[in-house]
Amino acid sequence: MITRWVDPPKNAQRIPAMSLALASPKTLSPFSFLCNPNKPNPQIHNLIPKFATLNHNPLPDSSPIDRKSEQQTERGLKFDTGETFFRQESATGRDLGVLAATLYKKSRGRLRILDALCGCGIRSLRYLVEAEADFVLVNDGNVESRDVITANLSQVERGSGEEEERWRVTLMDANRIMTECYLNRDFYDLIDIDSFGSDSSFLRSAINALRMDGLLYVTSTDGFSSGGRRPQQTLAAYGAYVRPMPYSNELGLRMLIGGVVRVASVMGYRVTPLFSYYSYHGPVFRVMLRVIRGKLPDSRHYGFISYCRDCGNSQEFSWEELGRICCPCSDSKVSMSLVVSGPLWTGPLHDTSYITDMLTLAKEWGWAGSDTGTDLDKLLNTMAAESDPILPFGFINLDEVASRAKVNSPALKAVVSALQKEGYAVSRSHIESNALKTNCPMSECIRIAQELQQ
Ligand SMILES: C[S@@+](CC[C@H](N)C(=O)[O-])C[C@H]1O[C@@H](n2cnc3c(N)ncnc32)[C@H](O)[C@@H]1O
Repeated sequence: MITRWVDPPKNAQRIPAMSLALASPKTLSPFSFLCNPNKPNPQIHNLIPKFATLNHNPLPDSSPIDRKSEQQTERGLKFDTGETFFRQESATGRDLGVLAATLYKKSRGRLRILDALCGCGIRSLRYLVEAEADFVLVNDGNVESRDVITANLSQVERGSGEEEERWRVTLMDANRIMTECYLNRDFYDLIDIDSFGSDSSFLRSAINALRMDGLLYVTSTDGFSSGGRRPQQTLAAYGAYVRPMPYSNELGLRMLIGGVVRVASVMGYRVTPLFSYYSYHGPVFRVMLRVIRGKLPDSRHYGFISYCRDCGNSQEFSWEELGRICCPCSDSKVSMSLVVSGPLWTGPLHDTSYITDMLTLAKEWGWAGSDTGTDLDKLLNTMAAESDPILPFGFINLDEVASRAKVNSPALKAVVSALQKEGYAVSRSHIESNALKTNCPMSECIRIAQELQQ
């Protein structure tokens, strides 16, 4: 069993390092976070046997993961990372979670959070201090993290009794703690699942432990899958056959939302994304979803998308159209140039009014605003623009336009104003800096790029 954790997967040795770097970002493995490779932790093997059977390629030496005990400060809060997994770059994901949680508390007047994979507990600390959560259940599967989590949380008075208790630490497998909460009818307003790889095994128990109309914050770090390199894996994890497409990191978000849509609908729930966030560190795909009672109304926003390698256009297909998928650029009834992925989420990635409220709150707190010039400010503004329902899924990279137009890559600002002048909807993409979301077809983008070159 232990050998299984330490050995790299057989095929990993056959892939040259260079091609790995070019292919797509690495998949972060559960193995890396659960134990120090030099000191496998038998307690975790016993605790999480199922987890150990998932992807277990060890991280390369250049991994940015910090396992040294270190004092950190985030948004003015001091904490220790101990030997736990901690990524400073995930601070933005934590900011977004805190903003959404705060809005939830403002509108409902209560906030109970379950931080199911808490690492050193920084997320929980922030939910308590910044979002003023009434109670946070702070859980991690690594029993060795108890002291560091407790020490970090101790900055907030623990309180006691049902009314007063602010936080509690548990060290269990996430599925087990969430199932126990469900069985005890102990429901939560927000459940945060900060997991690794394409582990979707937590979704069902999380939805069970969630209060009606609650928020589910889920993560995937599987860049190989969203890049279309492992369609069998995405089919197993999220029920979507994902193939290589130019906007693969957006597909990663859509595949994750679609996976939750599927699990939730089996259980009689419907989900809508409040925000979706891709970060290249990792990479990490995060989505905050509202879970409400009710079936998927129809197949709207849950279907198939195609990309044509010949003309560069993308299309959306419903289930009814499955047998008739072809691209208008081809005379033939069968378009060999089409790449199809799905089923996945095809609707908006964000809820415009939630993003606007998050931005207002971020400004109130001095986290965003015209004078701060922060990344969070840019991110939320771009998300707000991206959430325009007129904009289709995917994005068009200007390097692809330039290559098809046989010109140098045009300046993004110039293309935006040309598209707007011609009446097309357009926004930047928070996922890729040199890309645009637009309802303008590729052929017109090519013409505009050529005209701009003259
Ligand atoms: C990405 S880290 C969490 C980082 C933390 N949320 C933060 O923001 O810094 C994932 C954590 O999940 C824990 N973990 C992995 N598998 C688990 C499981 N099956 N049940 C509970 N915890 C698990 C690991 O010990 C690790 O601390």
